[in-house]
Amino acid sequence: LQRLCPRGKSPPGQWPASVLTQFEQNSKVTVLGAGGGIGQPLSLLMKLNPRVSELALYDIKGAPGVAADVGHINTNSVVKGYDAGEAGLKDALTGSEIVLIPAGVPRKPGMTRDDLFNTNASIVRDLAKAAATAAPKANILVISNPVNSTVPICAEVFKAHGVYDPKRLFGVTTLDVVRASRFISQNKSTDPANENITVVGGHSGATIVPLLSQSGYELSGEALDKYVNRVQFGGDEVVQAKGGAGSATLSMAMAGARFAESLLKAAQGEKGVVEPTFVDSPLYKDQGIDFFASRVELGPNGVENILPVGDITPYEQKLLDACLKDLKGNIAKGVQFVKENP
Ligand code: NAI
Repeated sequence: LQRLCPRGKSPPGQWPASVLTQFEQNSKVTVLGAGGGIGQPLSLLMKLNPRVSELALYDIKGAPGVAADVGHINTNSVVKGYDAGEAGLKDALTGSEIVLIPAGVPRKPGMTRDDLFNTNASIVRDLAKAAATAAPKANILVISNPVNSTVPICAEVFKAHGVYDPKRLFGVTTLDVVRASRFISQNKSTDPANENITVVGGHSGATIVPLLSQSGYELSGEALDKYVNRVQFGGDEVVQAKGGAGSATLSMAMAGARFAESLLKAAQGEKGVVEPTFVDSPLYKDQGIDFFASRVELGPNGVENILPVGDITPYEQKLLDACLKDLKGNIAKGVQFVKENP
């Protein structure tokens, strides 16, 4: 079998899934916004991932340069950079299994993620239109903020094109989980590699709800308030420290690469791959909230199983109530934007 199907080549005929999983994966991954602060290190990390066979980099500026640079790294994947414009975007997307979208402007000090809406909503809408045409079956991983609104924007665009698959659309909230895990390890002097704090809700301020109690921690009073606040507003620490030069890029690239790796693993048949992510979710639909981040089991078709929020403390319930209120408005804003600006 190894001889019949060397690395990077499609297997001949239809092999059963059990056989296919023995081979290295043959996945095209596309980064839209690859020239940016997140896009560059994210492209680097995807180049280091042996499950990726082709890496397509697109930006309105600079993607060919990033591709030439990353392309010298001695891993097997082929890297292609695409020029700005419709044709380049289409080629970058065609045949892609995973489309990562970190295109758009980042925050400056004093800005909320919602302040980015006016600029990023149309960028994400246009990229979603291109993806709906050129890669309608790809997993779409939205990083561009405000995620609570840009994910519904993508959904509306895919619906309008008649290709919406709710199992394939993800808002990347992994950085919240990474921060929540890192911050508790600093608090408790534990190894952060062993921490995996569940974070639910959305991806901005009060919609970010860390569920510390589910990991057996019992912070209380001011210590708990401080911890929750740091997880909810950890991004501001980076925005302030960078003094106007942008927001989190390196930690975000790591988080985006981790999420993409989880999807690739799950696509290859690995079971029990679970990541919190912002998806089209049944959990609060009865309250008119169509998207929600909770722990999601990933599989070959994208979303395999959306896990419930589970047992939470009265303190966490209060955080969740505040989250749901904000989230509803953020989602409605995205849906409305596409209605008014199709
Ligand atoms: P950046 O400004 O450094 O890079 C953005 C890139 O997008 C630029 O290279 C720009 O040319 C490109 N771009 C703009 N319009 C485009 C289009 N129509 N097509 C293709 N590329 C386009 O910004 P950075 O720091 O990389 O942040 C990107 C986004 O990610 C921001 O919206 C930021 O708020 C968000 N973000 C999300 C996080 C999350 O946890 N989901 C964490 C941190 C940032």
